[in-house]
Amino acid sequence: MDAEKTKASNILIIHGPNLNMLGVREPEIYGGTTLQDINRNLSELAENTGFKLVFFQSNAESALIERIQQTMNDGTNFIIINPAAYTHTSIAMRDAIAAIKLPFIEVHLSNIYSRESFRQHSYFSDLAIGVISGLGAKGYELALKYAMTS
Ligand code: DQA
Repeated sequence: MDAEKTKASNILIIHGPNLNMLGVREPEIYGGTTLQDINRNLSELAENTGFKLVFFQSNAESALIERIQQTMNDGTNFIIINPAAYTHTSIAMRDAIAAIKLPFIEVHLSNIYSRESFRQHSYFSDLAIGVISGLGAKGYELALKYAMTS
């Protein structure tokens, strides 16, 4: 395969349910950084690099699935996703991400493996190229740095 075609250049960052409430939502678990702060920081990191970032947040499973499906036609070639609670429940989102066959990194602010047992299973991790869990907002930064150098 042509290496240029596989190189990340258009990166989609997907935030699942309740992540629009970061900053006010259980800050002792998720920290005080808002989603706007996270997205702004990522945009700054990508500035003048030639990488194009697109952000999407939804609380609705169907909207998230549709956005994932859309990547088949919109030039996205890399995804960073925090599926939030759908991590642990959504076979439908898993099927969507399996169908589009794009490389993705799964990010969680909290360490899902040190929390309740229902959070310790992810429907995404075995399909992901990597998983970052427990490093707070910095996890997104590290995922983006990986995407921009891979
Ligand atoms: C989360 C962990 C999930 O268990 C939880 O439902 C979330 C956020 C995280 O980023 O730590 O909403 O994905």
